[in-house]
Order: sequence, then structure tokens, then C-alpha cells
Amino acid sequence: MAHKSELIATDIQAYLKAHEHKSLLRFITCGSVDDGKSTLIGRLLYESKLLFEDQLAALEADSKRIGTQGGELDFALLVDGLAAEREQGITIDVAYRFFSTDRRKFIVADTPGHEQYTRNMVTGASTADVAVILVDARKGVLTQTRRHSYIVSLLGIKHVVLAVNKMDLVDFSEELFRTIVQEYRDFADQIGLENVVPIPLSALKGDNMLEPSAHTPWYDGPTLMSFLENVEIEDDLQAKPFRMPVQWVNRPNQHFRGFAGTIVSGIVRVGDTVRALPSGVQSRIARIVTATGDLEQAVAGQSITVTLTDEIDVSRGDVLAAADAPPAVADQFQATIIWMHEEPMLPGRPYAIKIGTKTVSGSITTPKYKVNVNTLEHLAAKQLELNEIGVCNISLDRAVPFDPYAENRDMGSFILIDRLSNDTVGAGLLHFALRRAQNIHWQALDVNKKARAALKGQRACVLWFTGLSGAGKSTIANLVEKRLHALGRHTYTLDGDNVRHGLNKDLGFTDADRVENIRRVAEVAKLMVDAGLIVLVSFISPFRSERRFARELLEPGEFFEVFVDTPLEEAERRDPKGLYKKARRGELKNFTGIDSPYEPPERPEIHLRTEQLSPEEAAEQVLKVLHEAGMLYVEDELSGL
Ligand code: ADX
Repeated sequence: MAHKSELIATDIQAYLKAHEHKSLLRFITCGSVDDGKSTLIGRLLYESKLLFEDQLAALEADSKRIGTQGGELDFALLVDGLAAEREQGITIDVAYRFFSTDRRKFIVADTPGHEQYTRNMVTGASTADVAVILVDARKGVLTQTRRHSYIVSLLGIKHVVLAVNKMDLVDFSEELFRTIVQEYRDFADQIGLENVVPIPLSALKGDNMLEPSAHTPWYDGPTLMSFLENVEIEDDLQAKPFRMPVQWVNRPNQHFRGFAGTIVSGIVRVGDTVRALPSGVQSRIARIVTATGDLEQAVAGQSITVTLTDEIDVSRGDVLAAADAPPAVADQFQATIIWMHEEPMLPGRPYAIKIGTKTVSGSITTPKYKVNVNTLEHLAAKQLELNEIGVCNISLDRAVPFDPYAENRDMGSFILIDRLSNDTVGAGLLHFALRRAQNIHWQALDVNKKARAALKGQRACVLWFTGLSGAGKSTIANLVEKRLHALGRHTYTLDGDNVRHGLNKDLGFTDADRVENIRRVAEVAKLMVDAGLIVLVSFISPFRSERRFARELLEPGEFFEVFVDTPLEEAERRDPKGLYKKARRGELKNFTGIDSPYEPPERPEIHLRTEQLSPEEAAEQVLKVLHEAGMLYVEDELSGL
């Protein structure tokens, strides 16, 4: 039964050649283990006869020992070998399995993980030509089926197999099959999936897997394997304009400077004029270098190194593109976001955004709407929860080259990464750049931060006091400001309670509102630093992510994080406003330290342990650090201005 080819024995070269010229089909299977996904993939691997004798022997033995098919071959075991690794805590997001038949080579993205997680599915689907959507004939079309199909359509997969599995358990009922197909087609039409091929199957018994089944005389469509072997994939990547995101700059010596990457679309030839983005500077291709020698031209999918005829500035993450059809460059977009993490997406929170080979920082503004995947209705949303899909505006901290996703999958997609845990938390597809961003420029001002601060005889900075409610932030900030004032420094204090009466009176205490509260006050503090002031910010600011955002808005050395470290028991004992008591009685929800988290700073510039210090001593310590950092006495330097 194992794979044997005459050619391997007689003419290994001819065998390899035949293999090399077979086309490659990438597909993904969507559905859960219960739908028979493992069995389906296992049988395809088995029937493709590419298993080795020892794997077969193991399969037979395992099937007898632990199989679920009463000693018959249990194909799921071929795939579930991964389960053991998963139990050991090794995370496998997507397993790519390779098999081939006489007609074609296949890569199937198998996406383990609990059915509710779309993360693996999105990863697997992003490179697929075909999606096989599994439905259990007994259950029909489920929410999960709709969500997966919707993602498949968003990701631009053109060919869908609706694999109605376990037909043996419903007596191969034609009527039931037609009902499921009709329901699915109604949905598919709405989401723009045009090429849907429904197949009644039993992955377990083999019906319509390779051979047409005698149990479904009413079905005259293809078997699953014949569909996969014959479906025509339009590969128009080469017809699109040339794009190559630069993976790294290869500079082994002074005489060679090459830009390495994988061509994501188009063709490039020696002599072509190209443009580097985002700078827009042009040059021409001097050489196309590969491990096996120079090429005259290279096409989408190839990994190459190019050299240019001019010394222009190109760095990792930039894109080399056809000069006459370059991608756009922008820093604000509308995008579809698929959220994949248990922690919800919070508008305004900074995330790392990886687009192409570049990683930038950015944030999402309030979602315009989220989509109910069952009804496709647009719903109002403040945030996105796990598995939710929404349309949002995003804003990056710098401009990047891009194409709309509909035109170029690689140039128009991105992933969102939590900056503290490094988890991938979402995926996005770019629609278009926002015009408003294109029309707002930076106004150059002649009187700048340094000049304003100099006039006040000081250096501007932010003292960012963070800590629990009742920790003593405002008390200490107040003492520090009095001292600075006495020293003739120009200061301003932004205090949580006060700012929440004005600028932020529309905000409450949910996570999302706190993120926005801190985002606004960080922007205000930045403006005040620009005005040349020493700014004291006294907010609980419970999340590391937003404090880091505030830090990164400023220049190095301008941000002093002051951790007012008072243990919860002590803050609660002091309870200056009686709020802890209220919170304990359940009259105040989302109270920091009680039922809302506080994430202490990891490396604050100033750490004040208030149980060991009086407020005066704490204030003294802050001044000492400011002094040592050279923020207080700058006359010498100023006299030279
Ligand atoms: S933050 O978390 O968004 O940074 P902020 O510093 O602006 O909080 O406001 C905290 C102040 O609001 C507290 O000192 C307290 O007086 C008051 N407050 C009212 N409700 C809450 C709550 N649920 N959690 C924390 N503080 C609250």
C-alpha cells in the first residue's frame, strides 16, 4: 500500500523532474475535530500513498490499540500525533502537511486548537488557494461555519469546498444535503463567495473522497480529491506591479550593498527602474543575486538579493517597487480587524503593528462597526472581543507603503501584537488610506520647545506619578510642585480628579475609558512639555501599556516615571475619600485594586515606598533625582545660548 513508484527505482532523476513540474495547491480545512477534520486530512494523506511502511505499520498498531474505530484504521491518528505535543504544552499554531498525487502537490494547513479560536485559522488561511469548510451533516451550518466562511471571504480565498461530512450517519439523505447546501449558498452569496462546490462525504468510510460513492447516486459532482487535483487556480501575482519588502540589508563589505527579500508580486529585471518606499527615491536594478548565481529576472515568490545602480538609502522594512506603479504611503487607514485574543481590543491602546517586513507602533480608534457573523448586520461597538470582526480606523506612528488588501494580499495585511506580552492579538486587512491624514501636515514653528524652555531658564520634562488611589500621588506631587515653584521653575500639575471634571468628563472607569483617559492626558502633557513646562501628572494610570505610550511620546530623558508605591492594605486603611469602603460594599464597580487591575511599573525612574517615607521625604527624593538628571540648574548651559 505504501508509496512506490517505478520511476524511483529506475530513474530517480526523471521522478524528481516529474515532481518538480507538478503544480502546487495550498488549501486549508476549517472545522473542528468533531466535524471529522482530522479523519479527512488523515485519509487524504493515507490515500495519496505517500506514507512510509513504518508509518503504516504504526497506524495499524495504534488503530487496534487506541483507535476509535473498533480496530479498523483510524485515520485521525495520523494527524492527532500532534495532540501529544500539545498536551506537553508545545504550542503549534498551524501544522503544514505536505502530500502529493500523480497530478499535483499539496500543502494543507491543519489548524489545531479549540474550535472557538480563529487565530490559527486566519494564519493558515492567509496563504491558501482553496478552503475546505467542513460541516457535520447532522448539525448543518453553524455560527462557526459562518464565521470561518466570512473570514475565508475577507481573506480573498476564491474557491470553497462545502464538505458535508458524516453523510453515512444520515443515511446519505439527498434531501438533507440539499437543505444544508441551500442554507450555505444563501449565506455565501451575501458574503461574495462565488465558487462554492458542495460535496456529500464520509471521510471515515471514504465516500466521495477519492472514488464516487455508490451511496450517493444522486450526486454527480467531483470527489474531494478530484476537485483538489483539478481546480484551476488563477495565479495573477506575476501580472501585478513589482513589490519586494526588504527583509535585510546585506553589506558584507564596502563594495557590495544588496537588499534581500521575497518578491510578493510582479516581475523584476536587471535594468528596471525601481522606487524605494516610503522615501520615494528612484534607482535601477544593477544585479539580481541568488545563492545559485545571478539572474536576468525574478518573479513573485522568489527570494533574491538586488543591488542598485545608485547609493540610495534603503533599510529593512522598506519596499522596493515598480517606479511607474508604486504603492501608496500613509499613516492612517480604514481596515477590517479580526480580533484573536481573550483580552479585548481597546481603542487608543498602542499595539505593535507588523505590516510586511516592517513593525511600527499604532493604535485603533473606536470601531466604526462590528459584524454579526450570522446575520452580517453591522453593530455599534466600543471595543472588539475575542473572534469579533470589525471595521476600524487605525493610525500609525509613521507612514508605511501599502496596497489595499483587495489588490495585494501581502502589501495590504498586517498583524497586531501586544507590546508587553508579544502575543499576536489581531489581524487586519487594509481598505484605503484616510484622506484627512493626507491633508493634515506638520506646521513648522520657529519658536520651539528648547527656545520656550530656555526663556523660562529650565528644561521641560514630565514627572508621571502612578499608583493606587489613596497612595499619596497628589499629596507628593503637590509638595514637589511647591518646591519647584519656590525655585522659580515653571510648572503645571495635571491631576486625575481635576482633569476628569473637564477635558475627560465624558470618561468613566472601564478599561477602555481608562486607556482613553491616559492617552489624552499623555498628549496634553506632551503639549505642555513643548510649551517648556515641568509637568506633574498624577493619575492612577494602572496599565503599563499606556504609561509606555506616554513615555514614548516624549524625547529620551524627558519622562520620569514616579511609582508611588503604597500596598493595597495601606491605601485601603487610609481611604481618604471613603471610596475603598464603598467599593468593598459593592457600591462602586471597577475600583482599582479591588475589581480592576493595577500593573506596577517594572523600572520606574523614581520608586517611592510611602510606608517608609514621609510625604516631605518622598518629595525630597523626587527633587534629588531631578537635580542629578540636570533638570534643575541649567544656567551655565543657558548662558551659552
Ligand atoms: S485612571 O485609572 O484613569 O488613571 P484617574 O487617576 O483618572 O484614574 O482617577 C482616579 C480617581 O478617580 C481616584 O483617585 C478616585 O478619587 C476616583 N475614582 C472614582 N471611581 C474610581 C474607580 N472605579 N477606580 C479608581 N478611582 C476611582
